[in-house]
Amino acid sequence: MYPTTVGGLRLNNCIYNAAGVWDTTKAQLDELANNKWCGGIVTKSITVDERKGNEYPKYYFADGYSINSNGLENKGFSYYKSNKPKTTAYFYSIGGLSNDERKHIYTEYQHETGSGIELNLSCPNLGNAGPAYNPHTLEDFLQTFFEKDSYHQIGLKLPPYYFKEQFEDVGEIISQYPQIKFITCINSIPNCLDFDINNNIPTIKPHAGYGGLGGKAILSLGLANVNRFSTYFISNKLDIDIVGCGGVTSGQDVYKYLLAGANAVQVGTYLWENGPNVFESLTKELDLIMKRKGYYSIAQVPVYNSNV
Ligand code: DHB
Repeated sequence: MYPTTVGGLRLNNCIYNAAGVWDTTKAQLDELANNKWCGGIVTKSITVDERKGNEYPKYYFADGYSINSNGLENKGFSYYKSNKPKTTAYFYSIGGLSNDERKHIYTEYQHETGSGIELNLSCPNLGNAGPAYNPHTLEDFLQTFFEKDSYHQIGLKLPPYYFKEQFEDVGEIISQYPQIKFITCINSIPNCLDFDINNNIPTIKPHAGYGGLGGKAILSLGLANVNRFSTYFISNKLDIDIVGCGGVTSGQDVYKYLLAGANAVQVGTYLWENGPNVFESLTKELDLIMKRKGYYSIAQVPVYNSNV
């Protein structure tokens, strides 16, 4: 087990679920909470009211990648509040269909011991995809979001970025808000398409077959996003945690995220496909690597600095 902290919350292990995976119903949340290898829980991205989400089929998996367009199926904020498991660090993923709704849920949130917020600014499957895709809309959003009181410490779930300047722009914006204690990189890659060649149609139904790409295929983009931000935060002496997410299917992948600068790692597609037993196997695989290197804590993993 490799304990860590994310945004001030203590996790008994550095591996847990990605928002949207195994976290929609009370039964799923309890299953994660009762799994000692799962270091924390993020909820499905939440709206104020319950939503059924998009029509089926809305998820497709092939070896190496997944495409999803769930459409924010969730049971509404109060459900996730009343079904909060007591045993483990619990992050509300605030989704929302608009910036107003995000702000509304944030205002309703009352801090409970052991809980935090992962503010999702990057859902790729909605008309209004979220403000983090563009530094200008991100800046405008954060300004309004934190106006007047800025009560809680939070984290941001970010989309993938591609160019060094984007990381610098977003890093600089984030650095102006001391309430932001962690970021989670990356959400799925938006606007991806695949075909079912037997039937000559896309593999998923919503949005004409376009959805978010996850799974193994996005590992190196996830590592790059974590490392660009990690390098930026280190150079600018910013104490902001990074949660790595995208493409983890082995303890080696977890270790790679630690090298890139993450201090925790979330699992999405691999958890969806294989269920919560993955937390034990990933931890044991990570453990072999750590032991081989003589490390007993994730703080000993030498974070790669790409500022060369
Ligand atoms: C959904 C997908 C996402 O990647 C996300 O960040 C939020 C919601 C969805 O389709 O439900």
